[in-house]
Order: sequence, then C-alpha cells, then structure tokens
Amino acid sequence: MWDERYAVEEYVYGTEPNSFLAEYAGELSGPVLSIAEGEGRNAVFLAAQGLTVVGVDSSTVGLKKAQALARARDVSITTQVADLNDYIPEADFYGAVVSIFAHLPAHARQKLYPRLVRSLKAGGLLLLEAYTEGQLAYGTGGPKDIDMLMSSAKIKAEFPGLEPILLRELERDVTEGSYHSGRAAVVQFIGRKV
Ligand SMILES: C[S@@+](CC[C@H](N)C(=O)[O-])C[C@H]1O[C@@H](n2cnc3c(N)ncnc32)[C@H](O)[C@@H]1O
Repeated sequence: MWDERYAVEEYVYGTEPNSFLAEYAGELSGPVLSIAEGEGRNAVFLAAQGLTVVGVDSSTVGLKKAQALARARDVSITTQVADLNDYIPEADFYGAVVSIFAHLPAHARQKLYPRLVRSLKAGGLLLLEAYTEGQLAYGTGGPKDIDMLMSSAKIKAEFPGLEPILLRELERDVTEGSYHSGRAAVVQFIGRKV
C-alpha cells in the first residue's frame, strides 16, 4: 500500500520537514534514527542541520525518493528498508529517535517501543508526533483504526523508560503534502532517556 502511494512523482507528504520536528530539531543530537521515514523530508532536513541520520521504512519506493531528495539537497542520509515489526536497532547508540506519523498497531508498538528506548544513549531524546483518536472526526489524514491512533495516556504507558520533557495533545493545522492537509488532532511528545 505504501509503495503504491509513493509511486508518483510528487512527494505526497511534501519535501519540507514536519513542523513539530523543525521547531525542536535544535535540541536533538546524533546519530538520529528516524522511523517510518517515508520519502525522506525529515531525514534530509536533519542531515542539513549537520546530524547523521538513519531513516528506516518498509517502503523501498519511499526510501528511493528519500535518497533522491538527499541528492537534490546535497546531503547524505542512510536508509534501511525494514519492517518495524521485527526491527532491532543498535542498543545505546542513538542521540535521538524521531517518529513522525509512524502509526503502528499496539502489538507492534509493544515490541518496537522498548527497542527504541534501548537504542538511545543515556540522555538521548525521543521526539514523536502522531494523530489522536480525535483525528477520526477531522478525516484530514492518518489511519482510521483506533488501535493505531495515539494519545498522551498511551504514550505515558508505552514509554515508561522515558522522562517526559513535553507531552501535549492539541489541534493544529497540518499542511504536509496532499495526504496530511487541514485541521488535525495530534499528540506531541519529547522524552528523555534517564
Ligand atoms: C504517514 S507515512 C509518514 C512518513 C514520514 N514519517 C513523514 O512524516 O513524511 C507512514 C510511514 O510508515 C511506514 N510504515 C508503516 N508501517 C510500517 C512498518 N511496519 N515498518 C516500516 N515502515 C512502516 C510507511 O511505509 C510510511 O512511509
């Protein structure tokens, strides 16, 4: 489904970074692991800030576009095609993990999230933005399955190893390509590994 979505010339989530990530990128140190990276807009932005970035996604088509965007912007990123259901990142390695609209079912999050926390060095940050259940009323992007939508409560419960620096649910205008466009209900999180 993702390869099909990405098999067009346009960047369906745009080529500019997610605005929450852009606002807090200055707080992040590398190397950065960006999960569900898609077409590369966030990884390329972080690389342009001087950070070393690894972008992981199951879509070969998306990651090819990510590398094309990196070339066009004259930066270098590492991309890995992998299914996050089985993905085991290197432990105690990353300065930051980035998860932007990486919606997974609860059973996948239960396996992945502790691995993401393990992959962070002490003091490392995890930055996440995701749609909440309130997004079902807006219909401006994101999955329609409640199990895949997030909330502050889910984040607190699913990242017990992280100290919350910022955790908020809000409604905001998301203008990030043709599939994320309009008023949206999101949760934003930055947590630190203690
Ligand atoms: C809504 S897009 C977001 C892409 C990117 N983070 C962005 O904001 O532009 C969701 C991404 O999650 C990826 N994805 C979904 N399930 C996945 C899985 N099990 N393993 C790896 N990637 C997955 C898709 O391929 C897609 O690129």
